[in-house]
Amino acid sequence: MSRKKITVVGAGNVGGTLAQRLAERGYADVVLIDIVEGLPQGKALDILESLPVLGIDVQVTGTNSYEETANSDLVVITSGIARRPGMSRDDLITTNQGIVASVTEQVVRYSPNTIIICVTNPLDAMCHVALETSGFPKQRVIGQSGVLDTARFRTFLAQELQVSVQDVHAYVLGGHGDTMVPLVDTTNIAGVPVRKLIPEDRLQQIVQRARDGGAEIVNLLKTGSAFYAPSAATAQMVDAILLDKHQILPTCVYLQGEYGINDLYVGVPVKLGASGVEQIIELDLSAAEREALHKSASAVRELVEVLHRARE
Ligand code: NAI
Ligand code: 2OP
Repeated sequence: MSRKKITVVGAGNVGGTLAQRLAERGYADVVLIDIVEGLPQGKALDILESLPVLGIDVQVTGTNSYEETANSDLVVITSGIARRPGMSRDDLITTNQGIVASVTEQVVRYSPNTIIICVTNPLDAMCHVALETSGFPKQRVIGQSGVLDTARFRTFLAQELQVSVQDVHAYVLGGHGDTMVPLVDTTNIAGVPVRKLIPEDRLQQIVQRARDGGAEIVNLLKTGSAFYAPSAATAQMVDAILLDKHQILPTCVYLQGEYGINDLYVGVPVKLGASGVEQIIELDLSAAEREALHKSASAVRELVEVLHRARE
């Protein structure tokens, strides 16, 4: 039986760490690709040389050529730039739009049946680029944001209450930006509603820290953004799909009427399995949380309009 094949596009901080995490799972060969010559080859070889120590027999290949990505079961796109001083949001979006579009064209040429997980920011908008460029059905183009944003929220709650992270059940939905929506109403600690355990003002501080989680890391690192938690989050989505787990994870997905949102990528709970998106789960949100989700969707729509203007 042949192993699954995963391509990671972009051998930077997120892509390199993700390739390591996936190789260490031991169930799939990993191809790491970047435009910089030597970078994916060097990182792939380094990861490969760690596998005898770990007793793992997968292949890890670094390349600058899409031929080596052919027939991938799943492709993760992490290629792109992060915001630098002096750049507007529109500058970032336009540059990464070009990168994600050109990468997607190549990916699709060599792996027409693959599933794409987009990671490049601005995440929700880049999912639109990957969907439109690939021509794939929406079930095979998704984005990573909610697993990471939820993990940050769960981290802070677990620390506050001194409980296991596994006892903290929460969802962060919406766009991957300032308007993301931590769902406090349904957050519970082993079944106990979080509002019974943490006073409202303290809870709101924790919610805000989760929303600002990406910026907190950027401010500490100064030269880049988070990559350990983002790669862990992405690897969990890869597992759900390639191991056909039917696992429900907050996922950036193309909505067509669900939650009253149309033709837009927004983060909501999704059942992931071998075919990609198996089901979009519609939670019974309170009026306030539904309004917050719609506000977040409006922020995503503004970015998508920037994309479409750039194409005209
Ligand atoms: P990085 O700068 O470390 O790596 C990006 C890599 O992309 C570089 O190695 C670069 O050479 C490569 N690249 C650029 N153009 C390319 C092309 N046309 N083809 C192939 N490779 C190309 O950045 P990092 O930290 O890995 O982040 C990558 C992206 O992921 C950024 O846009 C970042 O904002 C985003 N991100 C998204 C997260 C999410 O939750 N959705 C979390 C963390 C990062
Ligand atoms: C984050 O949330 C940069 O999107 C990235 O850390």
